[in-house]
Amino acid sequence: MATARVLFICLGNICRSPTAEGVMRHAIQQAGADIQVDSAGTSSYHVGEPADARMRRHAARRGYQLTSRSRAFRRRDFEDFDLIVSMDASNLSALRRLDRDGSYAHKLVLMTDYCSRHQAGEVPDPYYGGAQGFEEVLDLVEDAAQGLLAELTR
Ligand code: 4NP
Repeated sequence: MATARVLFICLGNICRSPTAEGVMRHAIQQAGADIQVDSAGTSSYHVGEPADARMRRHAARRGYQLTSRSRAFRRRDFEDFDLIVSMDASNLSALRRLDRDGSYAHKLVLMTDYCSRHQAGEVPDPYYGGAQGFEEVLDLVEDAAQGLLAELTR
């Protein structure tokens, strides 16, 4: 089978989607799976910036080095990736608006759809909150990454 290509999406591409990318890359390496990952934001507020320092610190405590630089989602991503995984409903809506005729609807999913240990409808935005928000991102993303990896390597 061809290498699966997965793109993680949030608003700023400095907190949630870089975490999903880093946690998933770690899981892929451990499993020896052939899956490519990347992340992007639906906004361009933080383009070129490294992941948020608070997010990097919390991720590093669990053994994940977040090394991505923020980039904005571009239309070409609809073609370049097999699965486009949004962290929340609002960014999923933004992707659906860009996919005007629904050609890529089959590629658009929510990260929390892959959770098995947590009951959550989305990965909440931690940007304006405290430490607990960053821990919650990691809890949900670790859970979902396991489910996503299982799905893709079935
Ligand atoms: P992210 O978090 O979407 O998980 O990267 C945010 C980062 C920045 C902003 C909002 C959310 N912001 O408004 O600048």
